[in-house]
Amino acid sequence: MLKINGLSKYFQSGEVLTKAIDGISMSVGSGEFVAITGASGAGKSTLLNVLGLLENFNEGSYEINGTEVSKMGDRQKAQVRNENIGFIFQSFNLLPYLSVYENIELPLKIRGINKSERKKSVEQLLEKFGLANRAKHLPSQLSGGQQQRVSIARALSCAPKLILADEPTGNLNSEMANEVFSMFEEINREGTTILVVTHDEGLASRAHKTIQIGDGKVMQVS
Ligand SMILES: Nc1ncnc2c1ncn2[C@@H]1O[C@H](COP(=O)(O)OP(=O)(O)O)[C@@H](O)[C@H]1O
Ligand SMILES: [Mg+2]
Repeated sequence: MLKINGLSKYFQSGEVLTKAIDGISMSVGSGEFVAITGASGAGKSTLLNVLGLLENFNEGSYEINGTEVSKMGDRQKAQVRNENIGFIFQSFNLLPYLSVYENIELPLKIRGINKSERKKSVEQLLEKFGLANRAKHLPSQLSGGQQQRVSIARALSCAPKLILADEPTGNLNSEMANEVFSMFEEINREGTTILVVTHDEGLASRAHKTIQIGDGKVMQVS
């Protein structure tokens, strides 16, 4: 599904050149559940952003579903992203002025899905994630764990083939973190490929494969 070879991504700020990703090669097969670990500043978020087509890279190659990303234009990238990838972030990134229902509905609206189809999908997701009685709440009226459940439901609303999650349990207590990983396991069993960045070794060990990143390089695969 994803295949990168000798991938590098640099940031130039003033005189300082940071190699956030420094020659990483790896592949992620369809249906895999992969954890990415590593110290702060190792390049995990940059890697996830490049894999999610949110950022460009400087060197190397990246194939997604057999298509080379450096040959894609911005429109094609946006299309591949919208049709294939769901993002989950540490800080939930829910829109504060939209209800739980509206947050989950938004990606479907952007895709031009009609209202009755949207209603069907959103209601299914609310049910699945135990949020049916929270549909009209604003994010600020929910606990952290509930907010992350909403953001996972939102990421799943367009039935993505790939979920990219950047420290999704970083703001949660261990019980809620466990619950989020259990949801990932369930989503993965249903066929969605998952790449999750985490600091928690216990959680990482629940993935099929762990890739440890350090200084923009792959340190260990286990
Ligand atoms: N937009 C940016 N501009 C300049 N440097 C950046 C930018 N984003 C990340 N970096 C640098 O790239 C390195 C990797 O960052 P990041 O991918 O956020 O690491 P991690 O997610 O593992 O903590 C760090 O040294 C960071 O300072
Ligand atoms: Mg990060």
